Formats: sequence, structure tokens, C-alpha cells
Amino acid sequence: MSKHLDEARRILAVNDRGGYTVPTDRLYPFQWNWDSAFVAMGFSLYDVDRAYRELERLAEGQWADGMIPHIVFHQPSDTYFPGANVWRTRHSVPTSGITQPPVFAIALRKVHEAAGPAEARTPPLYEAALKWHRWWYSARDPKGTGLVALLHPWESGSDNSPAWDLALARVPTTTETAVARKDTGHVNAEMRPRDEDYRRFIHLVDTYAACDWEPARQWEKAPFKVAEVQTTAILLKAGEDLEHLARLLGRQDDAAEIAALNALSRKALLAQWRPEFSRFVSRDLISGEDVAAPTQAGFIPLLSLDLEEEIAGALVNEMKAWSKGVKVAFPTTKPGIESFEPKRYWRGPAWAIINWLLIDGLKRNGQTDLAEELRKSTIDAIETEGFAEYFDPTTGEGCGGLGFSWTAAAYLWLIRQ
Ligand code: DGY
Repeated sequence: MSKHLDEARRILAVNDRGGYTVPTDRLYPFQWNWDSAFVAMGFSLYDVDRAYRELERLAEGQWADGMIPHIVFHQPSDTYFPGANVWRTRHSVPTSGITQPPVFAIALRKVHEAAGPAEARTPPLYEAALKWHRWWYSARDPKGTGLVALLHPWESGSDNSPAWDLALARVPTTTETAVARKDTGHVNAEMRPRDEDYRRFIHLVDTYAACDWEPARQWEKAPFKVAEVQTTAILLKAGEDLEHLARLLGRQDDAAEIAALNALSRKALLAQWRPEFSRFVSRDLISGEDVAAPTQAGFIPLLSLDLEEEIAGALVNEMKAWSKGVKVAFPTTKPGIESFEPKRYWRGPAWAIINWLLIDGLKRNGQTDLAEELRKSTIDAIETEGFAEYFDPTTGEGCGGLGFSWTAAAYLWLIRQ
């Protein structure tokens, strides 16, 4: 085994806290939702039992209404803010009160396929995924538009993306909870969201805790509400995989229900294509306006749509224009614009898991050359700089947390293709 493969597996082993994997030590000391789904896909390549375990431990955090929270606090740690006490939720295992991109069913299908058809551990996880997808459509798209909305930037996984700048600016900076950040004690503050962002993030937590985390009340009170294309695209891909599993498991009624939701989201996503930007755009449900900020989210629909050649060609040209002259693709904000900050978390850096989604989407749409370029660029960045949380696209420097689980999982996945 190559030394990098060996190192990727070692990182997943070191970040194991008992059947679940922390994203990295200290900076993220609990189980994170979409991180774990990527990690499960990594494990599925060499340890199927451990891959199932990752998803099973995440499902322990699932709420009665179906939501799978973005953090499950299996054991206490004082190296992270906001911890369980700030969230004030009531689940038996302490959890946060918001969710994260639904990669779970995408992972479940891969784990199931690695395990073989008779695997008895799939059906309970399938049920968990189905409940969660129903929650997305009822709690986060109550009007049945097909696009699901986020009530907190953390739900996107792209916390401080320029995509949220206008919508977040409307959220007050006042908080009931004292904001006592720990992240900037672990990594350089220049690589993290700003203090003002954190005050707004915590204002939202306080607001939803006051709604008792009840989805209808939150929907009504939310000062931040964005119908989002990246999340919907991931939900649709996960929905396709869930529909596939439903048929395998002989759940024909479920399959029909999921297929109808998928069709709704497919149509809604396509309607978000904006030829003038050569991207898909999210919609700010409070202002009623398109989110025009140029971020990676606009390309993620490649993952779950079979696009006409004209649209796929325009997306690819735009992606190439963004990647021109960068050392590591794919920048999460268009280089050269004012909000592009190549080291600051989701305001420019390249992330291996975003590249993974884009590579799958490019392949789905027959864009194999760009997919291969992006795959090589991701592998090169990791082999040069190590398993960093993300990479500065202009210099290639590994940034944020080190020994990062999802970067290791992405490497394991991308190197074998
Ligand atoms: C953080 O704390 O930075 C996380 O991304 C929130 O989920």
C-alpha cells in the first residue's frame, strides 16, 4: 500500500472515538453529520463493518420527527463551542438542533453494495434515511416547491460562504448566549469565520431554541431562510439512491413516494438555472431574490441532473474559467472578486469533498476530461500538503485543521478511480 493510502487509513483510525469518527481532534471533537457520511464511504472500501457502524452511530442522534442533527455529542468535550448546553435540545443522546447536507443515503447505498445483497444492517438505516428525507420535504419545504430551505448557514456545511452574506446581514448580532469561541484557539483566526458571523450564528441558535426546535415555529420565526441548490442537489442524489434501495428491499410504495419527491426536486432545480451566470442559483426566501454570489453551490446540481449539452457545456466553461491559474481547483468562491478570500474557510478554499461531488457530477454528465483534471488536482494537493481540512487554491497550501477525516476518505475514494 502506498504511504498516502496508509496515512489516510491511519487518520481514520486515529479519529475513531468508538464506532464514530471525529472530523479532526479538538477543533471538531464530536460526530458531524455529513463528515460521517463521507467517512462511511471511505470505510466501505476496506472495512464494511466499520462503515455501517459510522452510519449507525449517526442514526443514534435521529430525532423522533426524522431530522438527523448536524452534530451528535456522544461524549463531552470542552474544546468546542457551541457545545450541547448551548443547543438546549431534548434528544436522549445530546445533539445540535439543526441539520446538514443529506449525504447519508448516498453513503448507505455504497456501503450496502460493498456488503452484498443479504446485509441485514441495511434496512434499519434505510428507514432512518427515509424518515430524514420526509423531514426535509415537510419541515424545510412546507409549500412543496421541490427546493429545500436552510434556516442556518451551518446547515449548508459551507458556513461562511459569500452565498450567505446578504441573508445573514439581516440577522441581528445580539445573543442571549455568550459567544465564547474555541475554534480560533486551534487554528489561525484568518482561516475561520469572523466574530460578527459567529454572533449571527448564535443569534439563530437562540431564536430556534426559543421555538423549542419545533419545525413549523422555526419556519415562521426564521430570520434566515434560503432555498438552496447545493443541499437540494445532494438531497436529490441521495433520493435517487434511496429509491434504488427501496426497490432492492421490495418497498414499492416507498419507491413510488421517493420517486415523486425526486421528480419534484429535479424540476425545481432545473428552474434555478441562470444562463446569464452559467450557474444554478439559490433563492433567498425572505427577500424573494436569487442568491447571485458566485460560489461552488451553483455547480453542484451536476451531481443529480442529466443536463442538456448546452447547459453542461456552459457549466464546464464557467468552471474552467474559475480554475484558470489556480494551483488547486476547485475554488469555492470565484477568484478575483471582492469576497474571494483564499484561506478563509468557505470563502475561496478548495475542499476535497466538494471536488468529490463535482467529479461525480461531471462524470454523470459525460464531462470526463474535467472530472479527471479535478481528481488529479485533488490527489496532488493532498499528496503534497497532507490531509488538511482544505487547501488555498492560489498557493496549494493545506489550511484549517490537519489530519482531517473527510479529506482522508476523499483520498481513499478518488485514488481508486
Ligand atoms: C463549525 O463549528 O465550524 C462547524 O462547521 C459548524 O458545524
